[in-house]
Amino acid sequence: MRIYKVGGAVRDRLLGKPVTDIDWVVVGATTEEMLAKGFRPVGVDFPVFLHPKSGEEYALARTERKSGRGYGGFTFHASPEVTLEEDLIRRDLTINAMAEDDQQNLTDPYHGQRDLEARLLRHVSPAFAEDPLRVLRVARFAARYATLGFTVAPETLELMRQLSESDELEALTPERSWKEISRALMEDQPQVFVEVLRACGALKVLMPEVDALFGVPQPPTHHPEIDTGAHTLSVLQQAAIHKQPLTVRWACLLHDLGKGLTPEQEWPRHIAHELKGLKLIKAVNERFKVPRDCQELALLVGEYHTHGHRAHELKPSTLLELLQSFDVFRRPQRFEEFIAACEMDARGRKGLEEKSYPQADYLRGAATAARNVAVQPLLEQGFKGPELGEAIKRERLKALKIYKEKA
Ligand code: CTP
Repeated sequence: MRIYKVGGAVRDRLLGKPVTDIDWVVVGATTEEMLAKGFRPVGVDFPVFLHPKSGEEYALARTERKSGRGYGGFTFHASPEVTLEEDLIRRDLTINAMAEDDQQNLTDPYHGQRDLEARLLRHVSPAFAEDPLRVLRVARFAARYATLGFTVAPETLELMRQLSESDELEALTPERSWKEISRALMEDQPQVFVEVLRACGALKVLMPEVDALFGVPQPPTHHPEIDTGAHTLSVLQQAAIHKQPLTVRWACLLHDLGKGLTPEQEWPRHIAHELKGLKLIKAVNERFKVPRDCQELALLVGEYHTHGHRAHELKPSTLLELLQSFDVFRRPQRFEEFIAACEMDARGRKGLEEKSYPQADYLRGAATAARNVAVQPLLEQGFKGPELGEAIKRERLKALKIYKEKA
């Protein structure tokens, strides 16, 4: 049997990037031989094994034939006769279809190295279409390597367009899609992920609510970039520049969905877009079975981001309601993430990227003022149950009035 390093590990070494996990391909071996060497099978009917010591993945060289629609509709053909070249040709991108032996000799039949130099994400062969998830993968790699100058090859974008126009993307499981989406959002240029999906028509299938924002104008006084789609991309870009966590990035992507529902005759104004957007945010959240923390923040940011921008104008009672909506007394972190998302929204406007956002400290200060209300004296005064709750609320309101006056 011959063993080669493949995929991302080879690609990233050639790019001079740190290699985190290594995938191996084994040529000329049978399942029985692998088991005899102590490798542990990953699943039934799946020719992938874990190394007994390192835990790294070793896959038997295989060819794949698509037998049905969507993921799961695969049959694998793995046998000792399958060559390295046959295995590599069914992989997604040329830059992912290189192999290396233990002497670092490169096997590169599909010119991955050439495409690395040309900064091109190019599919290896028509077998690309065997897995529709690759549309998302390519967009994710584009987001990751955009800083290095990578773009998607026109013929690959065309293939992605064909896949998006068929019903293949709809067959992807929420879990697989979310894994790609969440990884892509954490890349350096997450907005490129959305741009590439849009360019091949996949955005319209996966998130029509986001796609609908392109071509929708906003008032130029607040939004010099005018287009709501362009604004959303800039907000996402700001979130990456400011190293925001996934929760904030997800909220940034979805915060303005309501603007896609505004009747054209009301453009460029978007009255009550915050509340109108909630059902769309909920639908996207559910479509991809998004983790609860991301779901919650996206809904809260969708509903309250304009409150954040108008923080200084809010009445103390509205401020208190805002703090309560975030359950800020028990979950201060979530309120911080809300503030961050509002700030990214404000910075995601053309020419205003560096503008300071004093609302952030104002909101933090309000949360602290309300949180500092001591409960003990109220207990000592004999308040209990719902009355205690009311008394705390009154005291917090007083504290917020004083805070607002002083600010
Ligand atoms: N692969 C593929 N099609 C997929 C998934 C994976 O062709 N849908 C192949 C590619 O050759 C890829 C390799 O399997 O390089 C390993 O896949 P994975 O570990 O998911 O990705 P990496 O390329 O290692 O990239 P990352 O750095 O994002 O983990």
